[in-house]
Amino acid sequence: MDLDLGGRHALVCGASEGIGRAAAQELALLGASVTVLARRADALQAVADALPTPRSQVHCVLAVDMADTAALQATVEAHVAAHPAQILVNNTGGPPGGPAHTATLDAYTDAFRRHLLAGQVLVQALLPAMRAAHWGRIVNVVSTSVREPIPGLGVSNTVRGAVAGWAKTLSKELGPDDITVNNVLPGYTETGRIEQIVHDRAAATGKPADAILAGMRATVPLGRFASPAETGGVIAFLCSPAAGYITGVSLPVDGGRMASI
Ligand SMILES: NC(=O)c1ccc[n+]([C@@H]2O[C@H](COP(=O)([O-])OP(=O)(O)OC[C@H]3O[C@@H](n4cnc5c(N)ncnc54)[C@H](OP(=O)(O)O)[C@@H]3O)[C@@H](O)[C@H]2O)c1
Repeated sequence: MDLDLGGRHALVCGASEGIGRAAAQELALLGASVTVLARRADALQAVADALPTPRSQVHCVLAVDMADTAALQATVEAHVAAHPAQILVNNTGGPPGGPAHTATLDAYTDAFRRHLLAGQVLVQALLPAMRAAHWGRIVNVVSTSVREPIPGLGVSNTVRGAVAGWAKTLSKELGPDDITVNNVLPGYTETGRIEQIVHDRAAATGKPADAILAGMRATVPLGRFASPAETGGVIAFLCSPAAGYITGVSLPVDGGRMASI
């Protein structure tokens, strides 16, 4: 199976921790040069310094807030002019929890800016390099809520659906350029995001965190949460040559939790 990403450059967003950091690690192991993007420059530098270099590749850091659309555009356009990237992992932190009907307009605007507008800016910035290479990979890190909305994550459920519709449309538009566009739908994954969700549920219900965690695990046929590396590995596979005929899919990495087929 051809998993070799030697000579390719990947931009991995939300990569200072969690699933993004794990995806950067797996892509680097396959030989790609990786630019890690998030807000915290120190954390990013530590991630970049720890990335593997089996092909003597060079890794880079971009510290920028994906909520600042203009800054994101300027920063990424300048970076790819020097480091053309053919792989985009579109990922950022999840929106705060809460019901859909009580969420503020600002909460929706912020989520759309970070998840959808940022993705659009990133795709437009990287497309010239992908087209020049006649090869590209776009992977959006979304959520199982694309198929089965999750109670208590109203804004997240809403924006994930928008991202999925955008991505499917892109997959049709960019296929002729040999650019694939796919979504990874993480289930419960051991990162700061899941800790936040458990903390919020404990605060909302008064239940101990341990009981909430046990209840969540009981919904997963595999009986455990994913490690970030398991999810990052699937992202890297979708970016590999071996996944060249997969486009327009939303792939759950959820230990079998979703009920839908
Ligand atoms: N973990 C799960 O169980 C789970 C399940 C379903 C879906 N997901 C989704 O998968 C995605 C990744 O989750 P995760 O668990 O890896 O999250 P995480 O551990 O909270 O990491 C989020 C990453 O995004 C970066 N980030 C946050 N806001 C940003 C901004 N405004 N601009 C740039 N970077 C930003 C953070 O870095 P900085 O703080 O340095 O900016 C961090 O590197 C999220 O959308 C999450 O909702 C996760």
